[in-house]
Amino acid sequence: MMRLVLIGVYLVVCLWADTYMTNPRGSNNRLNENTATRTNANRLFDSQNNNRGGFNTGDRFENAAGNDPRRQYAMQYYASGPTEAEASKLIVEWTNQHGCGGNKDSPHKTNCNIVIQMMCQTNGTDASYPQGQGNGQQDLMERNTYLRDGTDTNTQNYNQPNQNEYVGDNQNAKNQAYTNRMNGNYANVQTSRGLHETVWWYDMCRFREANGGLYIADKNLGAGSLGYVGSERTRQNNNGNRRGYECPEERDYYPYWQPTHQGPYVDSHQTTPWIDVAYLTGNSSDCERVAAGSENQNGKWRCVLPDTSARKYGRSINEADCTNKEQGTWVQFHSYLEIISGANTEAKCNQYKNTDKRNKISWMSLRSDSNDKKCVVQAPLPKCEQAPWTRVNHLGNSIDNKGNASRVDTDLPYFPSGIAKRCVMRLRYNISTDEFDNYGTDHRHNHDLSKGVISPVEDDPFIDVAGESKPLRLAMNTNQYGRTFQDRTHAYVILPRLDGMKGKMLHNLNVRGKRGNIVQTFPAVEYDFVPNKLAISEEELLHIQWTGSNTHNNGGNGGDGQTGDAGEGTGGTDRHNFLQMLRSDLNFPAPFENTTFWDMVESVNYPKATGLDLAISFATSGYYCGLENFGGCNAGHHVKDSNKQAFQQQLNNAPASYFGHVLRFKKPGTCVYVCTRNNNFTNRSQKGVLWVTPKQQK
Ligand SMILES: *[C@@H]1O[C@H](CO)[C@@H](O)[C@H](O)[C@H]1NC(C)=O
Ligand SMILES: *[C@@H]1O[C@H](CO)[C@@H](O)[C@H](O)[C@H]1NC(C)=O
Ligand SMILES: *[C@@H]1O[C@H](CO)[C@@H](O)[C@H](O)[C@H]1NC(C)=O
Ligand SMILES: *[C@@H]1O[C@H](CO)[C@@H](O)[C@H](O)[C@H]1NC(C)=O
Ligand SMILES: *[C@@H]1O[C@H](CO)[C@@H](O)[C@H](O)[C@H]1NC(C)=O
Ligand SMILES: *[C@@H]1O[C@H](CO)[C@@H](O)[C@H](O)[C@H]1NC(C)=O
Ligand SMILES: *[C@@H]1O[C@H](CO)[C@@H](O)[C@H](O)[C@H]1NC(C)=O
Repeated sequence: MMRLVLIGVYLVVCLWADTYMTNPRGSNNRLNENTATRTNANRLFDSQNNNRGGFNTGDRFENAAGNDPRRQYAMQYYASGPTEAEASKLIVEWTNQHGCGGNKDSPHKTNCNIVIQMMCQTNGTDASYPQGQGNGQQDLMERNTYLRDGTDTNTQNYNQPNQNEYVGDNQNAKNQAYTNRMNGNYANVQTSRGLHETVWWYDMCRFREANGGLYIADKNLGAGSLGYVGSERTRQNNNGNRRGYECPEERDYYPYWQPTHQGPYVDSHQTTPWIDVAYLTGNSSDCERVAAGSENQNGKWRCVLPDTSARKYGRSINEADCTNKEQGTWVQFHSYLEIISGANTEAKCNQYKNTDKRNKISWMSLRSDSNDKKCVVQAPLPKCEQAPWTRVNHLGNSIDNKGNASRVDTDLPYFPSGIAKRCVMRLRYNISTDEFDNYGTDHRHNHDLSKGVISPVEDDPFIDVAGESKPLRLAMNTNQYGRTFQDRTHAYVILPRLDGMKGKMLHNLNVRGKRGNIVQTFPAVEYDFVPNKLAISEEELLHIQWTGSNTHNNGGNGGDGQTGDAGEGTGGTDRHNFLQMLRSDLNFPAPFENTTFWDMVESVNYPKATGLDLAISFATSGYYCGLENFGGCNAGHHVKDSNKQAFQQQLNNAPASYFGHVLRFKKPGTCVYVCTRNNNFTNRSQKGVLWVTPKQQK
């Protein structure tokens, strides 16, 4: 009797959780709002997180970007090179509230897995950024394809399909209805709003039948506007709500059984499907399943409707239904990191293949119904490892990461074409419990009293204690029973490597956090360097870069937390700099004459910059490029030729974001560093330490 009650208490614990990316910074659907809570939880994706989490997109200058996307700052990381030794390392860091990690020897209270993915697109130039609401073909293509943060917080529009596009024998009428509606949808995509997935992808989701093989407990997934249950409805999203153009079924399940391509292939705006970066699990035998299911190198099939249909995507999710019921073709689509358009023959493609030790390059067609061969670069299989252990009900650090927030070391991709890409990263945190067998439970266990089937879990069930009728009731909602949370970054750019980076490992050193004290920033975090302890070899490279916003005011509405933005300098603004200190228990930077770090380093980007130039640039967050002109930036931006107003001591007039420099080392040594604006002994610390070790020691 007592045991039953205890089991009940244990169940209650398993309901809410959140996940927040701290590096690269997760948006949690924020854009640039100065309120503590995000304006629109449905802006781009379904996070299921607290409204207060997340960071604003970066501002390039000392003022808010407002409506001008060119005044936003996208982080710019250098790509990896073609070999393992030429990795560009990026620490992906996050917190998750409900615990993760553990295995059957060290049991946890939930099953948990974390999926990290990214989607990339050819970056192009300023001219590629869509402008206005023009209805020319090029305008429409750009507006519907260009992956962006946008400048306002509204969700993109969508007009849903009706049965007249689907039911009946009059193919012309169906085509007309579909074409009219989708043309309206394409025209109605707003340049000013964020875009990750495309409206084409979401429409395909609406037509695609929900996978009837899935376990939905006692949830009743109502039919949508087409008269059947589409993949916009899942156990967790049974009312079919839309967030951005994300497909709920694809969001909830991984690996997904259909291709995640965002539209027909457009060479100038090449966009990848979701590329798997890492899968972290409490069950390491999952890794085989993930390797076999990752879209990166396993083509996925879907139903393509015949030429007579204007709509090319079908309802069916298996071959028999596709060919018998829809007269479609069951087609395999292959994922790609990029297509090297310059390599237009097999021989040219093989040249890339011979030098690329990281990706899988093949001369092949992108889909099984076509013979149009291209030089296809596929990403490596995702890193699969044990998820970092964290405790439940706690947005804290992990034992496995030695007191850091949950982390995984990732390699940025290598793009053999040498073309800059713009990407977004997503992290999903998925928890489920053992009340039902996660692998053996499927649609046959869905609640259906007419067939005598009782779901292993039901909403708010009663517990029978010693024959008394229903004295205890559990707080349990089956759409949260087994639940996925998500965060995504703002758009960032991956730059091709410079010649001086050949053969070298590169590390990224960034800043996390936003303005405010511990309760004001929660569930986001205060400022810190990421990583704030880093040991590298003198042969390796270091890219120090940060981004910040000018609108992190944390104003009302406060949601369920505190408003306000305690910090130094102008309210609402994030600022950072990097100065050497002589010891880490000090809080005062060393005078330049006493520093050792700037004698140890040289800029790969601007080898002519002196140590003093670099010290000035890092201390002022790029307000000055250096002492005198070394060719690094425009005249007037150096201390000696300055045409600027006086530099404000708390960096108020310095840019919120700073590309920094990639540094190479002339000798080993140690550097303890501090951000002078935000470090304040007793109430805020923003310091770090870098150990550069002699090469033989690594
Ligand atoms: C990336 O695209 C943006 C326009 O969105 C442009 O301003 C920037 O210069 C591009 N960066 C690179 C490295 O091509
Ligand atoms: C979450 O876990 C459930 C149960 O193991 C699984 O069916 C689903 O695919 C997972 N989803 C994601 C996004 O990992
Ligand atoms: C671990 O994963 C494997 C394969 O994905 C599955 O068969 C097994 O049941 C899982 N074990 C546990 C304890 O969940
Ligand atoms: C965090 O991780 C770094 C390695 O990246 C390690 O050196 C450090 O000890 C860890 N813990 C803390 C509290 O910094
Ligand atoms: C330190 O705390 C005080 C008082 O709460 C606050 O006004 C100040 O801005 C804080 N300093 C920093 C660097 O945040
Ligand atoms: C800097 O170096 C000078 C000369 O060696 C020394 O006199 C001075 O005390 C040092 N200052 C600090 C802050 O260490
Ligand atoms: C540091 O914080 C204290 C409060 O702890 C505050 O009184 C002081 O003004 C701050 N000073 C600086 C320089 O940030």
